Amino acid sequence: MSQPIRIGIIGAGAIGNVHLNTFAKLDTANIVAITDAYLPMAQQRAEEHQIPTVHETPQALLEDPTLDAVIVAVPNQFHAPLAIEALKQGKHVLLEKPMAIDSASALAITEAVQASGKVLMMAHQMRWQGLSLAVKAMIDQGDLGTIYNVKTGWMRKKGIPGWGSWFTRKDQSGGGPLIDIGVHMLDLSLYLIGNPKPVSVYGSTYAEFGPNKEGIGNWGTPNWEGYYDVEDLASALIKLDNGGTLALDVSWAAHSAAISDEPFIHLIGTKGGISIVGSSGTFVTHKDNEVVTTAIEPQVVEDDRVLLSSHFVDCVIHGKEPIAPALSGYTNMRILDAIYESSKTGNEVKLSWN
Ligand SMILES: NC(=O)c1ccc[n+]([C@@H]2O[C@H](COP(=O)([O-])OP(=O)(O)OC[C@H]3O[C@@H](n4cnc5c(N)ncnc54)[C@H](O)[C@@H]3O)[C@@H](O)[C@H]2O)c1
Repeated sequence: MSQPIRIGIIGAGAIGNVHLNTFAKLDTANIVAITDAYLPMAQQRAEEHQIPTVHETPQALLEDPTLDAVIVAVPNQFHAPLAIEALKQGKHVLLEKPMAIDSASALAITEAVQASGKVLMMAHQMRWQGLSLAVKAMIDQGDLGTIYNVKTGWMRKKGIPGWGSWFTRKDQSGGGPLIDIGVHMLDLSLYLIGNPKPVSVYGSTYAEFGPNKEGIGNWGTPNWEGYYDVEDLASALIKLDNGGTLALDVSWAAHSAAISDEPFIHLIGTKGGISIVGSSGTFVTHKDNEVVTTAIEPQVVEDDRVLLSSHFVDCVIHGKEPIAPALSGYTNMRILDAIYESSKTGNEVKLSWN
């Protein structure tokens, strides 16, 4: 086997630490360099994970000629500048979601990927969960027929992350739950149904909890001196170029009586349907004019993030296109931008793809 690839990580926060723990389980790659805007955090993680080099700045890490690839795990506003600079420096990139804070920045990343010829993969780990893999296999073998309607979302009742930190500031995050958790559901749904192109979007966003410092969750560290100018609920209908429709509903906080706060996807096809709610999956079809439901057995997966990371390394080593490429990140960002625009104008937003 060839030498493990050498990876640097920018961002030693919560998800940065998840990547450190994940890559430690791989023998095809080593994280050998780290940096963070708050250097003591990078130093602490370096000690915890035996990382030999702490760079003082992201630029110094990106210019490190010994690195093959970088993981970008920083607040959303820095995704585009760091990913683009990494590609210019000849590094492959594993980029946290969402791709950027808006579709213009996401397009700039996509163009940089094309110019560099390097691999850029979006870190959408839900694609590698055992249930997602089982559902994808069922769809690919035709169990659902043509899928013409999707209802997806994630309705948290009380889950605003890091109130007042970058999470709740539009200039740093790009938005609220749409950008934060909606992007996961959009990404997984479009991937499962074969990536049809979105052609029009109609949506509304609301901020009823965040501005009053209500609906606070456990992720992230609140900064009560900060502010909140993003949505806490969004609802949208997306029309697809294959004639299908996708409804997306997300919230960080809501007076919702739904039994579960878990992510969901309901796929409705001509031959059958599938409901994913959290880690449970159900297949439904009609037989002899009766509704028949069957539980779906997830594929056995030890760790979805290990599968994601292994796939990234495999693409780097063999020059393959990842299954979560830049184009999917850009497509997601086009839809999210269009939902915000539709909410502002009250009109449907048409999307063209030339
Ligand atoms: N895939 C997932 O499930 C998942 C889950 C959580 C977060 N995320 C994404 O990961 C990213 C980071 O989220 P988090 O929860 O780890 O945030 P965090 O606030 O815990 O960590 C961010 C870290 O980045 C550092 N930082 C900020 N600006 C920087 C810069 N310009 N250069 C270098 N370091 C900088 C901060 O000091 C902090 O340590 C976000 O894009 C978020 O959307 C993804």
